[in-house]
Amino acid sequence: MTQDEMKLAVAQAAIEYIRPKLNDDSIVGVGTGSTANFFIDELAKIKHLFASAVASSDETAKRLEAHGIEVLDLNTAGQLDVYIDGADEFDPHLNLIKGGGAALTREKIVAAASREFVCIVDSSKQVDILGGFPLPIEVIPMSRSYVAREIVKLDGAPVYREGVVTDNGNEILDVHDLSIVNPKELERVLNNVVGVVTNGLFANRGADVVLMSTPDGVETFK
Ligand code: 5RP
Repeated sequence: MTQDEMKLAVAQAAIEYIRPKLNDDSIVGVGTGSTANFFIDELAKIKHLFASAVASSDETAKRLEAHGIEVLDLNTAGQLDVYIDGADEFDPHLNLIKGGGAALTREKIVAAASREFVCIVDSSKQVDILGGFPLPIEVIPMSRSYVAREIVKLDGAPVYREGVVTDNGNEILDVHDLSIVNPKELERVLNNVVGVVTNGLFANRGADVVLMSTPDGVETFK
């Protein structure tokens, strides 16, 4: 099975997972990335079963709209029943690293505004301890070097993701060499560094459910 076939399989599993929860008024929160793109294409096939969507990035909004799915601003939508998104890593407690696609801030906002966060991944994303994937941090551009120095004090090795500007007009530092034994605490510490907009740890609001595609089928973690 190729990785794309696994992404498609987990996207289809997510559709089956959310289908019974949908009604004519439902607004679906939709994440960003290649797995989310498979999900969007599958979601389009059941667009008659829900009202509209909220997107976690401009790219996702465009893809949803290209399928004829109405995209609402989160301020209009209010609280969402369900948010579906990928991840770069997940651990046994359903803590996540996200932001490989630089959409972490809006992803974290939509996840926070949703009753249920369903994370869809293939088995390459499963880890015991987060941090093998460099932790993305969105920073206000003028703070980049300051934030990088503060991260070095926390024993991380920050690398500027050159050429990337987020949907919010900010920049990304990818932090290598972290072994994240207490993700909730590190998420809070990083959020307190002046200039940090968001960090890619989704621990204080992790996933409620992870659907993980393997060559033998889709596994569910709750
Ligand atoms: C984007 C994200 C993505 O969910 C994450 O990078 C996983 O992407 P993919 O499904 O392409 O592996 O956090 O900011």
